[in-house]
Amino acid sequence: MSDARVFPHRHLLGIDHLDAADIVQILDLANTFFELGARPIKKVPTLRGRTVINLFFENSTRTRTSFEIAAKRMSADAVNISSSGSSAAKGETLLDTAKNLEAMRPDVVVLRHMFGGAPHLLAKHLDCAIINAGDGQHEHPTQALLDAATIRRAKGRVEGLEVAIVGDLAHSRVVRSNIQCLARLGAKIRLCAPWTLVPRGLDEIGGEITRRATRIVTRLDEALEGADVVMMLRVQNERMSGEQPRFPNTREFSRTYGLSARTLAWAKPDAIVMHPGPVNRGVELAPDVADGPRSVVLDQVEWGVAVRMAVLYLLGRVPAGEAEAA
Ligand code: NCD
Repeated sequence: MSDARVFPHRHLLGIDHLDAADIVQILDLANTFFELGARPIKKVPTLRGRTVINLFFENSTRTRTSFEIAAKRMSADAVNISSSGSSAAKGETLLDTAKNLEAMRPDVVVLRHMFGGAPHLLAKHLDCAIINAGDGQHEHPTQALLDAATIRRAKGRVEGLEVAIVGDLAHSRVVRSNIQCLARLGAKIRLCAPWTLVPRGLDEIGGEITRRATRIVTRLDEALEGADVVMMLRVQNERMSGEQPRFPNTREFSRTYGLSARTLAWAKPDAIVMHPGPVNRGVELAPDVADGPRSVVLDQVEWGVAVRMAVLYLLGRVPAGEAEAA
């Protein structure tokens, strides 16, 4: 595998510490791994002898499975741990769990956790590479990277595209990683939700570059008009319990902010439809649009494996302890 540029990071904690060149390096590498999925023998020896631990404290189908498949396609040994079956259920702290796993000498720990900053904590205390697979409402960097890879394949570029991101902006780590990734790649972003689901400062989290690229609108027609890409976000009901209601009821939310054949007509005729999954069918996305010809939802899942292979390759190739600190 030729990649002349040395990836300058030891961990993938968020998009916030990546610049455009880092992102493009990951996406270019993902392109070379993507084709492997179409081969009858889907395996290369690149990470033979390396150990990857997937440590998941929140539910996951796509992310956990694709990290496991990505590791196995590169011949690494992948071990999966979920909170319900782990000693966390007995009251062990995250750091104790992680220190004990480190004693078994993994090269990479992939962490999903309900608290923002959990992967950063592990990166401070552990010797191996840490990959953030979603930390609370903070970041989900591999999701943003696979979204960018999907857009690049469907549209040939990301630069100059108009991307509408619609839905539950308040509770979404996907949007926080995506606006930084897309802005650094030169896209223009419209964020759309009722004001009750727009967190203050959302358009500024990536600094000046994000601020310049991003616009917040509360009307769906304004968000979709002329859009090349429509990315819908799940209404994250599990994060709303104990909160004041953010909208009157699901039916009204869906009528005002849902993507249907009628509202998709506001976007460009060749606009693609994205969703990180899992989809609340009939809430943020109508079933005929989710399954329709403009939907690239399953392409996103396919790219998820290739992008995670690229990230594991860049971070897991050097044995733990020998890499330079990021
Ligand atoms: C997202 C997540 O977990 O943040 N899903 C995913 O990783 N595919 C978005 C969501 O749960 O809505």
